[in-house]
Amino acid sequence: GPAFETTGAEGSSISRVREEAESCTRCDLYKSATHLVFGNGPARAKVLFVGEQPGDREDQAGQPFVGPAGKLLDRCLDEAGIDRDLCYVTNAVKHFKFTPRGKRRIHSKPNTGEVQACAWWLAAELRLIKPALVVALGATALYSLLGRQAKVMRDRGQILNSPNGVPMLVTIHPSALLRSRDRADAELNRARFIEDLRKIADFLE
Ligand code: URA
Repeated sequence: GPAFETTGAEGSSISRVREEAESCTRCDLYKSATHLVFGNGPARAKVLFVGEQPGDREDQAGQPFVGPAGKLLDRCLDEAGIDRDLCYVTNAVKHFKFTPRGKRRIHSKPNTGEVQACAWWLAAELRLIKPALVVALGATALYSLLGRQAKVMRDRGQILNSPNGVPMLVTIHPSALLRSRDRADAELNRARFIEDLRKIADFLE
């Protein structure tokens, strides 16, 4: 770390924490990832989104939700009338976990140890951004934020009370929309996701 630790506004800024995270070795995922993907968005954002972990594209870009799932999220937010630029977007786990298959890198689900190790950084983001609403996108985000007491399919669309007192909207991960059974199922799932996202508007005012 730096020779002189500063305190106060600068010492606890989100950019300082991001810098610290760059050298994170709290779990082993840093060994094979290209970039640490920290959260992105206004430091005073009223809404903070939590995804699972960066994908292949995010790992290369060093930015969250810029690949296929991110594009899908953008389109759904647009349809829900929510401006992503006003929101802070991050992930439960900040390094890409994958298994190589030929030239491809196949997404692999982070385990509970990895999620717990990385919750340190998510807690720092929540402490510094102080959002009015947290949006949990899918099971990994929900587990990181609330443990096992909430379930995506049971609680989706609801705004729950999180332990630190910040309301939390539960919804699916946008990539779940890419795995619908058929066309009708896909349209229904997408409509429900957009309906969930509309609940964010009240918190952006
Ligand atoms: N999926 C996520 O959960 N996060 C990203 O940043 C990209 C894809």
